[in-house]
Amino acid sequence: MDPPPSTVEVEAAPTQPPCWPWRGRGRRARPPPLEATPIAPLLKRQRRAGGRATGAATQVPPRCCCSEPSPGAGRNGPVGGPRRPRCRPPPSPPGRCQLRSPRRLPPLPLPRRGCSRLPPGSPAAGGRRGAAPVLAALLGLGAVLAYGERRRRGAQAAQATPVPRYPLYTREEVGRHRSPQDRIWVTHGTEVFDVTDFVELHPGGADKVLLAAGGALEPFWALYAVHSQPHVLELLREYKVGELSPEEAPPAPDATQDPFAGDPPRHPGLRVNSQKPFNAEPPAELLAERFLTPNELFFTRNHLPVPAVDPSSYRLRVEGPGGRVLLLSLAELRSRFPKHEVTATLQCAGNRRAEMSRVRPVKGLAWDIGAISTARWGGVRLRDILLDAGFGEEWEGEWHVCFEGLDADAAGAPYGASIPYGRAVSPAADVLLAYEMNGEELPRDHGFPLRVVVPGVVGARSVKWLQRVAVSPAESPSHWQRNDYKGFSPCVDWDTVDYTTAPAIQELPVQSAITHPRPGAAVPEGELTVKGYAWSGGGREVVRVDVSLDGGRTWRVARLTGERPVPGRAWAWALWELQAPVTAGTELEIICKAVDGSYNVQPDTVAPIWNLRGVLSNAWHRVHVTVSR
Ligand code: MTE
Repeated sequence: MDPPPSTVEVEAAPTQPPCWPWRGRGRRARPPPLEATPIAPLLKRQRRAGGRATGAATQVPPRCCCSEPSPGAGRNGPVGGPRRPRCRPPPSPPGRCQLRSPRRLPPLPLPRRGCSRLPPGSPAAGGRRGAAPVLAALLGLGAVLAYGERRRRGAQAAQATPVPRYPLYTREEVGRHRSPQDRIWVTHGTEVFDVTDFVELHPGGADKVLLAAGGALEPFWALYAVHSQPHVLELLREYKVGELSPEEAPPAPDATQDPFAGDPPRHPGLRVNSQKPFNAEPPAELLAERFLTPNELFFTRNHLPVPAVDPSSYRLRVEGPGGRVLLLSLAELRSRFPKHEVTATLQCAGNRRAEMSRVRPVKGLAWDIGAISTARWGGVRLRDILLDAGFGEEWEGEWHVCFEGLDADAAGAPYGASIPYGRAVSPAADVLLAYEMNGEELPRDHGFPLRVVVPGVVGARSVKWLQRVAVSPAESPSHWQRNDYKGFSPCVDWDTVDYTTAPAIQELPVQSAITHPRPGAAVPEGELTVKGYAWSGGGREVVRVDVSLDGGRTWRVARLTGERPVPGRAWAWALWELQAPVTAGTELEIICKAVDGSYNVQPDTVAPIWNLRGVLSNAWHRVHVTVSR
């Protein structure tokens, strides 16, 4: 008989999933905000207005007349004097303060017929200065140039006119501007901005800006490192309406505290793709040196600050059927459920994104070949927990097991993901709630004290710092389940993408990469050793790795090393190597490609699998080297 659960609560009704900021914004909700640049809204606005292709008169969206500049002022800046803000806007007479019809901006320059054949920058094409805007407009970069032009004009105007003096406000006055009706004001440093017109254009969603309404931006910007770039502040300055009174104290230190200050120390050998949040991969040279990646070198993919968890008060919340809630301490997890160990590779959907960006830019961190690592995970089977919570082995219809982490964004929304119920409860799928990694306590960066490990599935579903497990007829409402980590056709761009049309990535396709030699290396003549890794999703074993040293004209089969997997449960990568004689003075294009147990192969080039988010990048890996004496 099963021992009774030590901590069981019965709730009247199951808890609601958290209110997700991206929900309810229509089918075409704006995709991933984290790595979007704040120039994006300008680009999008310009494209929507038809500025890209036609060069026709460019429209800007309707604006509230309350924000019209005072005579002599630029639209968004103090050209000839600051926009005169109203601390309390007077009530609008009927018919006023309505959205005005779109205003017209001067047309973008149109290319003349045949102009595109002229070499860029040639005098006939209008010289460097003349050709650049035309080309940029064609490429959809018109808004960037318009932005640059506006800056240039602003700088000229600033030289011509005295430095404007802005009205002074107290924090209390700023605090009264928290809604579109009262105007939305924010502060940064000692400056005051009216961002009402920017709210809807914010790449991270309007609701994110509203969190800072009436107060300081710094605590929110600190959470999203994308804001710490000079052009973000420049963009903000266009909305400046005042200064804080000199007697106003700076914001309380805790309000501006760096949310990443509590992140753990990291190994200096990691190749860092972003510091805040921390994202890093092991150097390729070390990646496949060992079958199990050392914990300190295991790639790290964090979307948010690392939460600090007190293990003594930690409880995993498992929502069972009928409102039954199981709260499990770490001690209970260890003592009440059998320990299970699985050797599994985790791979991020963005692994090898840098190669995709070389074909056409994509949005996302520029991962090289190292967003993949392997560990021996120890913990309890998710299946055991679900059965203990009252769920059955059988499932009818579509059910999902949803996970939530303890890391949350500025709006309080935690990282979340889900997997199909069938995988979660299947004994053959080996889904773990892991508290150990390579025989050690789970490191903080990898989910201390408890994380999900879903073997054979994209890393995004292996939720770290696990706090909640729930079963639902719908997938996790998380942004990272619904509006990210999905694949699209190369023809889909940020104007046409519809995240509801694509399934969330679960099992990953077959993958391989060369870890030695490195691109551009000069290798000595004689016997060359080529090394790398290969892996496939869904437990499909890698059955072969083909290697070419001459760009794909001839092939050899590499020797697979590492542990022999259980058929259908090949959760870990295969390492491989090949020795071949090479002659001095030659250039080699080394290629690897893997074949899995279902005879799935990798595509030979990147272009046909290019997608706007740069995920699922698994084309043949190519490395160019020269052979020296
Ligand atoms: N879980 C939480 N709570 N927060 C996260 O940011 N990142 C996910 C997943 N689980 C993430 C998370 C992604 S995208 C990946 S690829 C893996 O964790 C990476 O796990 P690792 O950092 O241990 O390598």
